[in-house]
Amino acid sequence: MKVWKKATDDFSKKNIDITRIPKHLAIIMDGNGRWAQKKGLPRAIGHRAGVEALREIVRGSNDLGIKYLTIYAFSTENWKRPQTEVGILMSLLNEYIRKELAELHANNVKICILGHREDMPADLREACATASKKTSDNTGLVLNVALNYGGRSEILKAVKEIALEVKNGILDADQITEEVFESHLFTKGCPEPELVVRTSGEMRLSNFLLWQAAYSEIVIVDECWPDFNRESLLKTISNYQKRDRRFGGISEC
Ligand code: FPP
Repeated sequence: MKVWKKATDDFSKKNIDITRIPKHLAIIMDGNGRWAQKKGLPRAIGHRAGVEALREIVRGSNDLGIKYLTIYAFSTENWKRPQTEVGILMSLLNEYIRKELAELHANNVKICILGHREDMPADLREACATASKKTSDNTGLVLNVALNYGGRSEILKAVKEIALEVKNGILDADQITEEVFESHLFTKGCPEPELVVRTSGEMRLSNFLLWQAAYSEIVIVDECWPDFNRESLLKTISNYQKRDRRFGGISEC
């Protein structure tokens, strides 16, 4: 199985400060359909090209030393698409997880699925379970695949679970802190993303990581997702590193 050789780019030449790499990068991989349409191709080809881009970005993130990479693969709202497109996305996801599993595992990547598994097709549910189980002890890059994920439904899920604990006397309402709340999110145990990237020029979160992205820096790039490559990733990180993160406070200088 192919073991990745760390790429030897000189990051300093690309304006990357290797000591200030975000720990958690989250990506809204948007624009597969438009990429294909612009080329006069079916949307399915755009999604396939999106998988290729994902491969490159997983490797690039690993090379940069990013610890958590969260990708928005399918939202709770994506079920509204025509059935044929939903079918294509589901089988691509299934194929990606099954085909990449051995290589990701060989490279110490830990695969985590964020989202409501119960509503996924059985074969995809099974592929997700196998991938999570096989890689659960890996200590390298954590690849969070947000699949049938929605920020609002994630928050509702947490509220319901906490309400039940209060009702059953396990928890007192006064004990509900941000930490308690976060322990009921799909991202339990992950730090907040310092950086959320969206491709294809659209400027919205689309129900992605609504709680977790409260203080994330957001970078919007014009390229459609299939065109987002290693070079684009480095530019995005360099852009992020120029930001002044104040978290509601004031800048030191
Ligand atoms: C947005 O493009 C992308 C998605 C709905 C899902 C992302 C899917 C992939 C990158 C391919 C498969 C993913 C994995 C993890 C195997 P769009 O269809 O919304 O594009 P548009 O806005 O141009 O129509």
